[in-house]
Amino acid sequence: MSNNTQAVSGHQRIETSNLLMIVLVLLTVLVGGVVEILPLFFQRSTTQAAPGLKPYTALQLAGRDIYLREGCYNCHSQMIRPLAAETLRYGKYSTAGEFVYDHPFQWGSKRTGPDLHRVGGKYSDDWHRIHLNNPRDVVPESNMPAYSWLEKSPVDAAGMPVRLAAMRTLGVPYTEDEIKSSAQDVAGKTELDALVAYLQVLGTANK
Ligand code: HEC
Repeated sequence: MSNNTQAVSGHQRIETSNLLMIVLVLLTVLVGGVVEILPLFFQRSTTQAAPGLKPYTALQLAGRDIYLREGCYNCHSQMIRPLAAETLRYGKYSTAGEFVYDHPFQWGSKRTGPDLHRVGGKYSDDWHRIHLNNPRDVVPESNMPAYSWLEKSPVDAAGMPVRLAAMRTLGVPYTEDEIKSSAQDVAGKTELDALVAYLQVLGTANK
């Protein structure tokens, strides 16, 4: 007996009906999403700060904002996966609790350059200064752009208190004093100082 004389099976009905297929696919994705994502909002390991993690200082936070402004995340990830190829190259894999003060987090999705999550302490401040000013001076084959204006631009000190206050509304435990003194804390610093301060603290809480 050939197939087409048999009654149409349930599976066939789904595969031949666009609407039914769309509805069932959406339902599957929805259930999968709820099961996988929802618990993350309630697990301590994803919502509590990793031991030793401190909120960024005013200077580090200014540096993080420069990292965002300059689009460093277009070429650099900040997320080391638990795979030997990654941990051998970059160090201990990243854990969710290390990012609870990052708003928005900088995991990124593209690695033209190396992952930067554990770059803190890997090089001296001077190395970073030379590298950011002109990467070719320390890595001749580098295709990373030069950011030579950073050492000439002062940090926007007056804008710091509102930035810390904004972070506090997102759950970063800044004290009133830290917010008040933040403009003073970055006074006279350049954007290069701030970016290097930020890079040097990356991934150091849980190394
Ligand atoms: C067009 C892609 C690109 C952009 C944009 C970029 N980088 Fe890079 N970066 C690279 C590449 C490629 C390397 C590896 C060669 C080198 O060390 O210069 C690198 C290396 C680095 C390193 C050394 C990492 C290590 O472990 O050796 C640091 C730190 C770094 N970049 C920081 C930054 C910062 C901060 C910015 C934004 C201001 C930035 N990069 C923007 C491509 C990029």
